[in-house]
This record gives sequence, structure tokens and C-alpha cells, in this order.
Amino acid sequence: MKKFEDILAQNDFSRDDLVRLLEAEGAERTALFSAAAARKEAVVGKKVYFRGLVEFSNECSKDCLYCGIRHSNSKVVRYEAADEDILAACRFAWENKFGSVVLQSGELSSTNFINRVDYLVKQIKALSNGGLGITLSCGEQTRETYERWFESGAHRYLLRIESSTRELYQKIHPNNDHHSFEKRLECLRLLKECGYQVGTGVMIGLPFQTTENLADDLLFLKSIDVDMVGMGPYIEHEDTPLYEFRHLIKSKQERFDLALRMVATLRLLMPDINIAAATALQAIDPAGREKAVKIGANIIMPNLTPSAFRKDYQLYEDKPCLDEDADQCRNCLEARIELAGSEIGYGEWGDSKHFERRK
Ligand code: 5AD
Ligand code: FES
Repeated sequence: MKKFEDILAQNDFSRDDLVRLLEAEGAERTALFSAAAARKEAVVGKKVYFRGLVEFSNECSKDCLYCGIRHSNSKVVRYEAADEDILAACRFAWENKFGSVVLQSGELSSTNFINRVDYLVKQIKALSNGGLGITLSCGEQTRETYERWFESGAHRYLLRIESSTRELYQKIHPNNDHHSFEKRLECLRLLKECGYQVGTGVMIGLPFQTTENLADDLLFLKSIDVDMVGMGPYIEHEDTPLYEFRHLIKSKQERFDLALRMVATLRLLMPDINIAAATALQAIDPAGREKAVKIGANIIMPNLTPSAFRKDYQLYEDKPCLDEDADQCRNCLEARIELAGSEIGYGEWGDSKHFERRK
């Protein structure tokens, strides 16, 4: 068997190597974390970039088995934030020198929805003289829609593959017209062709998921040459069908630890990409995102969703910052990032270095 330190010293990793890294405990885990921290600092530097997150609507046509805002969850109070509230949140981001904003919603494909996102993108560009970067996270759409939003000024797109293992994907996304693994892969391809910086990611600690599946996820991220990754622990939600399988999942602490090892391992595998410290980490450990920043992540998404709606955008249990407003979130994050020994890249887009190299 290879020595752990020899694996760490490599630039490329086999599936077996990745499994070893993902299972590291004790001194090996400490070595993994310090190697990833050093790699991060050497390749992307110490800065952490903010992306102000605006969850502008929780309407969703899909029925992912794990997600709290799935179409069939009738307990959810559905909302659509008003344009002026969304734009006010973006203005806050601009005035506070956040590099960019992320507009996120459930997945809809009506003409109304497509027009509205387009309108919002143009308005955000206008209010910031083109200065604010715009990331969209609005699900699977047609090439025409992706092209249109890109022309209007969006330049990054987040669409998680959730799991790159087809069988697992199909287990957690009932196989009907609404969910198709092929379609999701195709969307990731289209986004890249349209010129977006593309972000994807997976959930960690899902029922039925093995460490090998996670190693395959990392290899998948590398194979599609992504620019940005957001991945966090799966967190059960009582009002979803996957809750029934909670006896199969690891403890919250174990899922959290595994998520940190995924982040550190990904930093070694793809040193120049942007990696977000997922909010779901904070649902398990109050300092979760800062811990991820220490060992490899370089992006944080402070929540700018108007506070009245936050409680209705609960994808999972214990989602943090439900009662805070944008100002409180920023101040709290600033202090936390400093504690993590990093600085915030105010006023910069903080594009993925990987994207800059490949374009
Ligand atoms: N636990 C953790 N993450 C979740 N997401 C949705 N539901 C859950 C859950 N129960 C994640 C998905 C989605 C992103 C917006 O939130 O990965 O892509
Ligand atoms: Fe809305 Fe999955 S439940 S996209």
C-alpha cells in the first residue's frame, strides 16, 4: 500500500488515492488539511470572495426527494420576492463592495420566469454600471434561455450535478419527465458552450452513497473541467421522501467531517478553481464555513434574501441566518473570516483562476 504522505505529494490522484484521502483520520487527516491549506494559499491566495445570495423565489416544478422546497411539499408557503426588493438586495451588495451576486430560485421554465430573470439581470447590471458580477442558479433551461441570460450580463452559472453516479442520481430524482441525468449533463455542457463560468457540485453523506461514489464525484468534476464547485453535507428534511432513509445516513458530525475532507481533497485535485464554503456546513457547525475556508474553500455566499422570506427557503433543516438581515450577515462574516486567517476580496469579482486560464 502507498504511504499516505506519498499520495499527498502527487499532482494527480487515482480513484483509490482519493478514497484514501476521503477516509483520512487523525494525523493523516491533519496532514491532508495542511497540504490543502498550503496549496490553496500558493495557487489562489489568501483572499475569500463574497457572493451575495438572493433566493428570489421558492416556486419549483421539480420534486427532488431530498429538497424542502420540492413541488409536492404542500407545507411550504410559496413566495416570489418583488423586483424592487431583489434589486435593493443587489444594491446593498454593490454598495458594500461584494464582487458579485447570485440569483437563486427553484426551477421554473415559464416564459414569465425566463423574462423576469432576464429583466433582473439587466437591472442589476444597470444599477452597478456593469460592476457587479452576476451568477445565476435557476436550474435546467434551454440553450436559447442560457444564451439570452448570458447576453444580458450573467456570466456564471451554478447547477449542481448532486451525484455523478447515475444510479444514485436516479434514486434521489424520480425518473420522469422532470428529472433526467442526461439532461443535467447536457445543461452543464451547454452552459460552458455559452461562455459561462460553470459551477457544479454534489451533496455529501446521502443515503446509499459510498466513499467510492464521492471519489467518482471528484473525478467527474475534474473530467468536465469545472471552474467553480459548491458542495456540502446532505441534511435531512422532515417533509421530504428521503427522510424515510435517515437510518442509513452517517451522523451529522461525520457528514460534516467528510464534507471538509471532500473540500481539502478537491483543492489538491483542482488547485486553481473557486470552491465555495457551503452554507449547509454551517447548519451542522456554527463555524462550519470558516473551517472550510481554512482548508481549501475561497468563496462565501452571504445571504441577502429579504429576511421575510428566509424561513420559506428551507432546503434542509437548521438552515442558518434565518433571523439576520444583510447587514448583520456581513458584519458577522467579516469577523469570522478574519478569525479563519483570511481576508475578504472586497470590490473584486474574484473570477476562478481556472476559468481565466482556460478561456
Ligand atoms: N441537504 C443539503 N443540501 C441540499 N440541497 C437541496 N436540498 C438539500 C438538503 N436536504 C442543495 C442541492 C441544491 C442546492 C441549491 O441545495 O445540492 O443544488
Ligand atoms: Fe426544486 Fe430540486 S426540488 S430543483
